[in-house]
Amino acid sequence: MTAMTRTMKAIAHDEYGEAADVLAPREVPVPEPGRGEVRVEVHAVSLNAADVYLTRGEPTIGRLAFGWPRPKRTIRGRDVAGVVDSVGPGVTEWSPGDRVAAEGEESLAEYTCVKASLLARVPDGVPFTEAAAVPLAGVTALQAVRVGEVKAGDRVLVNGASGGVGTFLVQLATAAGAEVTGVCGAGNTDLVRSLGAVHVVDYGVEDFTEAKEPYDVVIDLAGNRSLRELRSALAPGGTLVLTSGHGSRAMGPLWRNAAASLTSPFVRQRLRPFLARSGVDGEVEGLLERVAAGTLRPAVGRTYPFERAVDALAHVARGHARGKVVVVLREG
Ligand SMILES: NC(=O)c1ccc[n+]([C@@H]2O[C@H](COP(=O)([O-])OP(=O)(O)OC[C@H]3O[C@@H](n4cnc5c(N)ncnc54)[C@H](OP(=O)(O)O)[C@@H]3O)[C@@H](O)[C@H]2O)c1
Repeated sequence: MTAMTRTMKAIAHDEYGEAADVLAPREVPVPEPGRGEVRVEVHAVSLNAADVYLTRGEPTIGRLAFGWPRPKRTIRGRDVAGVVDSVGPGVTEWSPGDRVAAEGEESLAEYTCVKASLLARVPDGVPFTEAAAVPLAGVTALQAVRVGEVKAGDRVLVNGASGGVGTFLVQLATAAGAEVTGVCGAGNTDLVRSLGAVHVVDYGVEDFTEAKEPYDVVIDLAGNRSLRELRSALAPGGTLVLTSGHGSRAMGPLWRNAAASLTSPFVRQRLRPFLARSGVDGEVEGLLERVAAGTLRPAVGRTYPFERAVDALAHVARGHARGKVVVVLREG
C-alpha cells in the first residue's frame, strides 16, 4: 500500500466461524473497477442467509468453491444499494451519480465493485434501505413462484414466511392470485397476514404437515422438515419447491435435494429443489419498479448502522430475522 492509496472501512474475516468471532472492521484499499465493472458508493446492504453460510464456510463441501482452508473473498456482504462512483473500461450504460442496486460480492464496505451487467436502476422515491432489501431475496422469491408454477386459485403454503425471502414470496404468490398460507413464529403472524397471507400458521402451536386439506404448492424456505413430511402436506398432483434444508454441516441440503430429484420422476407430485440464479436480465429492476409503484413492499424489519454490521449478521444467524435486516452506511 503506497502513501497515496485511498482506503476505506470494510467488514472482513480471514477464518471461517460465527460472525461475532471472526468478522471485524478493517481498513482496506478502495477497489478500482476493472473492465465491465462499476464502483458503487455503498449506502445500504441487506443481509441474507447466504452471508451467514459464507462467514461460517458451510456446508464444508462449499469451501471447494469459496476457499479452502480460508475464505478467498475476505469482505462479506452481497446485496447492495448506492450511487455509482466511477465506471471501469468498457462501461457505457452507467454514469457517476446513478442510483443502483444489485446482488454483488464484498458489499459490506464503503465502496464495492459490481459487474455492470448485474446492476439495476433504483427508481426515484425508493429509499436505498428498501432497494438493498430486494436483489437476492426478491429474486429468489420471484423464481420460486415460477418454479412452483403458482397460478390463480392455487393453495400455496410458504414455510418460513416471515424472513427475508418469505416476506417477498407471500406478496408475489398473492399477486399471482394464489391463496397463501404462511408458516412463521408467534411474533410474526401479524406481519405475514399484512403482506397478503389469507391463513397464518404459528409453528409453535400447529403442525402444517397435518393439514386436513392439502396444498397445490408447498415452498419450503425453513428447511427444517423431511421430504416425507413436506410431501404429506401436498396434493397428489402438487408441486414442492425446496430452496434449502439444513442437512449436515458437511453437505448441507445435498442429500434431501438429491432424494427429491431422484424421487420426482416416479411420483405424481413434482419435487423441485431449486437454486436461485442472480443476474437474470431485468428481474431486480422489475421488482424495484413494483416497489416504486407501491405493489411490493420490502419488509425491512431492522436496520443497523455500519459500526454494528457484525451484530446485524449475528442477528440473522440466529435464524429468526423478521423480514429483511439492512445495514445503513449513508443516509439518503
Ligand atoms: N435456493 C436458493 O437459491 C436460496 C436463496 C435464498 C435463500 N435460500 C434459503 O432460504 C432460507 C430462508 O432464507 P431467508 O433469507 O428468508 O432467511 P431469514 O431472513 O434468516 O429468515 C429465516 C426465517 O425462518 C423462520 N423460521 C425459523 N424457524 C422456523 C420454523 N421452525 N418453521 C418455520 N419458519 C421458521 C423465521 O421465522 P420466525 O422469526 O417467525 O421464527 C425467519 O423469519 C435459508 O435457508 C436460505 O439458505 C435459498
